[in-house]
Formats: sequence, C-alpha cells, structure tokens
Amino acid sequence: MSASFSPPPAALPSEHELVLKVIPMPGDCNANGDIFGGWVMAQVDLAGSVLPARYVQGRMATVAVNEFIFKQPVRVGDILSFFSHITRVGNTSVTVQVEVYAERFSDQGRYVKVTEATLTYVAIDANGRPRPLPKPQAPAQG
Ligand SMILES: CC(C)(COP(=O)(O)OP(=O)(O)OC[C@H]1O[C@@H](n2cnc3c(N)ncnc32)[C@H](O)[C@@H]1OP(=O)(O)O)[C@@H](O)C(=O)NCCC(=O)NCCS
Repeated sequence: MSASFSPPPAALPSEHELVLKVIPMPGDCNANGDIFGGWVMAQVDLAGSVLPARYVQGRMATVAVNEFIFKQPVRVGDILSFFSHITRVGNTSVTVQVEVYAERFSDQGRYVKVTEATLTYVAIDANGRPRPLPKPQAPAQG
C-alpha cells in the first residue's frame, strides 16, 4: 500500500504582495498528469513582472531567471497564488522573488508552497537596449 506524501500547510508570506491567482487546466499537464513545469515558469514570469513594471514605466524584458525551484508538484484544479517582493532595484534592472502557493482542489484554505523563483527584469528602450529606470515620482501634495 502506498500513501501519497502530504507536506504540512505553509503560512503565506505577509511581506509579499499577491500579484496573480490562476487555476491550471488539463491542457497544461505533462505526461505524468502533473502540471508541466514550463507552464508554471510562464506564469511565474508574468507574475514576476508585476512589481518591476511600477519601476520600469514602459518596455521591459526578462534578462535572467536567477533561481527556480519546483518544491512540490502542481495539479489540475489547484488554486495557485503568486506572491512577490522586490529584492534589488538597480540602475536599469529590478530583481524580484516569487513564491507560489497551491490550495489543493479538495483542500481549500490550506496552502502548500509549490515553487519559488528569483527573476531579473531590465527596462529597455525602443531599440531593445537597457535604459535607466525613471526617477521615482514624489508623492502628490494634498
Ligand atoms: C535584456 C537585455 C536588453 C540586456 O542587455 P545586456 O547588454 O545584456 O545588459 P547589461 O549587461 O547592460 O545589464 C543590464 C542590467 O541587467 C542586469 N543583468 C544582466 N545579466 C544579469 C543576470 N544574469 N542576472 C541578473 N541581472 C543581470 C545587469 O546587472 C544590469 O542591471 P543594472 O543596470 O540594474 O545593474 C538583453 O540581454 C536582451 O535583449 N536579452 C533578451 C531578453 C529576452 O528576450 N527575454 C525573454 C523575453 S522577455
């Protein structure tokens, strides 16, 4: 008899911002019946771009996936929550950490960390070359 491994529920990262929620469908599966890693990577790339977009204010490109860890499989019907926070703001680039948590299809409200990644995005000009990040705007006086 085999028992499937069930990791303990995880606490959500309170210092991160929720930037994306999505539910994978059967068409996103690999040959094992789990969700294809490339699909997860695409979602993480989209989610990771949300916070850098506030700094970049225009075109940007992903220059590096500095780290990507698939900690647990993702399954059809999981509700995936993507949390992100900024780890570095450079001259032309912004680096973020993204953590992905799954609520299993039949176990809502309990979160399992399935993926964590670090990605870097670069502000680019009309020729696709790096450009300096715009200076942050001062808050409006009221
Ligand atoms: C993104 C791109 C314009 C950067 O050009 P580049 O000449 O390699 O850039 P630079 O060496 O001047 O580095 C630009 C910034 O990226 C950062 N960077 C470059 N390589 C990096 C890496 N491996 N990890 C982390 N940061 C990196 C640099 O530190 C620099 O940041 P800073 O100015 O904030 O310090 C170019 O590499 C490119 O077009 N790549 C293809 C992008 C792409 O197709 N992405 C997938 C689809 S969006």
